[in-house]
Amino acid sequence: MTERTHKTIEQAEQEGKYIRKVRSFVKREGRLTNAQARALELHWDTMGLDHNKKVINPSVVFNNENPVVLEIGFGMGKSLVEMAKNAPELNFIGIEVHKPGVGACIALAQEEGIKNLRVYEHDAIEILADCIPDASITTVQLFFPDPWHKKKHHKRRIVSPEFVETIRQKLKIGGVFHMATDWENYAECMLEDMQASAGYKNLSENNDYVPRPDSRPLTKFENRGQRLGHGVWDLQFQRID
Ligand SMILES: C[S@@+](CC[C@H](N)C(=O)[O-])C[C@H]1O[C@@H](n2cnc3c(N)ncnc32)[C@H](O)[C@@H]1O
Repeated sequence: MTERTHKTIEQAEQEGKYIRKVRSFVKREGRLTNAQARALELHWDTMGLDHNKKVINPSVVFNNENPVVLEIGFGMGKSLVEMAKNAPELNFIGIEVHKPGVGACIALAQEEGIKNLRVYEHDAIEILADCIPDASITTVQLFFPDPWHKKKHHKRRIVSPEFVETIRQKLKIGGVFHMATDWENYAECMLEDMQASAGYKNLSENNDYVPRPDSRPLTKFENRGQRLGHGVWDLQFQRID
């Protein structure tokens, strides 16, 4: 029976009638706190970007020509807001699917008076495909993506050969893709995918990982990892082609 269903899906895929979407997240409908709901209500108009399948022009969004940093999966946004605060000469775009996280990020940004940050509440894969212009981003940040520990779930990991190629296209030549993880096996897979991908140069002296850059604030997940005694691996690759 399972065999039959499987064959049917495969056949339908071949005929282009069925596309199996494996996502890197499971939508948790966690409740919004009052502060998060209020932040979304009051400030979405100025800080929020809608998917609506339209390509944005960052110069118009931010009303300046400053370099753009794109962060995927910013969680509650604490480190993203801190980075935006520390670098007013840069523009920041955050993408996160978890609504309470987006609300928390906007609330914190408002508290801190941040003007150089915009956020999407949507799947980053679709935002990259539909909204971010090619060769427009100076830095892409992916900090502590869900590791999907079990082997049978590895297909859900956001980092894949296709993903790193999409990121390369979105970066300007000379732009940097910065990843960090506290899961060694994921770090090794990231390194493998990046090394196999043409058009990138590893910024590591040993051709593997880079020391933790001072510009990356400690995130919630890194803090947790440290408490659990995990190591942390940072990877930085530059687009050269
Ligand atoms: C393990 S958490 C890390 C959060 C944060 N970067 C940190 O270090 O504290 C991973 C985050 O990525 C988000 N995420 C996973 N897949 C995503 C996707 N395709 N698009 C946007 N966000 C995603 C999840 O909702 C979650 O908040």
